[in-house]
Amino acid sequence: MSSKSDVPGVAIITGAASGMGRATALAFAVAGVSGLALLDLNEAGLTETKDLVHKDHPSLKIELYTVDVTSESSIISAYTRAKEAFSRIDYAVHCAGIVTWQGASADCTLDAFDKQNNVNYRGLWLCAREALRIMRTQPLDHEAYPDANIAPHRGQKGSIINISSGLAIASQSGIPAYCGAKAGVCAITRSDALDYATQRIRVNAVLPGVVDTYMTNSSPEVRQFMMENPVKKATPMRRLGIPEEIADVCVFLSGNKASFVTGASWSVDGGFCAGFSYE
Ligand SMILES: NC(=O)c1ccc[n+]([C@@H]2O[C@H](COP(=O)([O-])OP(=O)(O)OC[C@H]3O[C@@H](n4cnc5c(N)ncnc54)[C@H](O)[C@@H]3O)[C@@H](O)[C@H]2O)c1
Repeated sequence: MSSKSDVPGVAIITGAASGMGRATALAFAVAGVSGLALLDLNEAGLTETKDLVHKDHPSLKIELYTVDVTSESSIISAYTRAKEAFSRIDYAVHCAGIVTWQGASADCTLDAFDKQNNVNYRGLWLCAREALRIMRTQPLDHEAYPDANIAPHRGQKGSIINISSGLAIASQSGIPAYCGAKAGVCAITRSDALDYATQRIRVNAVLPGVVDTYMTNSSPEVRQFMMENPVKKATPMRRLGIPEEIADVCVFLSGNKASFVTGASWSVDGGFCAGFSYE
């Protein structure tokens, strides 16, 4: 399998029980990874993702880790066990996230602010730190996977994708902590990209627009708000994205075809961050 794959290595994905994380697991399997380490709080959802992947890829090695990204020990343990299970981790995609609808700043409690940041910003950083610790110690992928015919100048020790949001660039009223956390994800992504560029670990952020997942469909009111506001008024394509559209970009950015891309904030949003559209 590895000789024909654009992603011959092993992928670790957080938030893999649902939405974009699940779609990314499926997309990596289609693209030909040799293993998947899937992390989430939701154990049942992880098993569903594993079963979905195994339907079309029955022999793909998949390990599941029930974790809370807010817990340092939980994340260190899961990444360490994944490294032991697969020998190396080539691609990390950090999707785990929540939105707490915390209210405008004057009405936002410290608990709501901390909860939002502990998952989406601090939690993502804990995962990225473990991925970096593993990736920096491993050989380049063109040496590890000689059958994949990766040109040596395009070889990498690893690639990390941190899921941010279009709201890192264009804030939405009423969720300041979410917007701040997502902007922080872009900034820390650039910092890590700089610090590990010569060690040949690429670090990029993907900024989804409004995507059809549990997060945008957690209640009829949330879905109605999404459709009437960000989709109809601020998304030039005037539709929701589907998780597969984000997943495909994550897989492309992970592989060696994106070998000169690092520190980028890559919008996948139907034009949400491009500007205003009055049609
Ligand atoms: N859906 C959108 O419109 C949209 C837009 C921009 C960015 N995003 C971001 O995309 C990412 C994926 O979200 P989604 O839309 O697929 O939502 P989702 O709710 O379908 O998936 C999020 C996953 O994260 C997991 N998770 C939440 N807290 C966790 C924790 N503490 N530890 C471990 N796992 C945890 C959940 O169990 C869930 O499986 C999130 O970071 C979200 O902020 C979503």
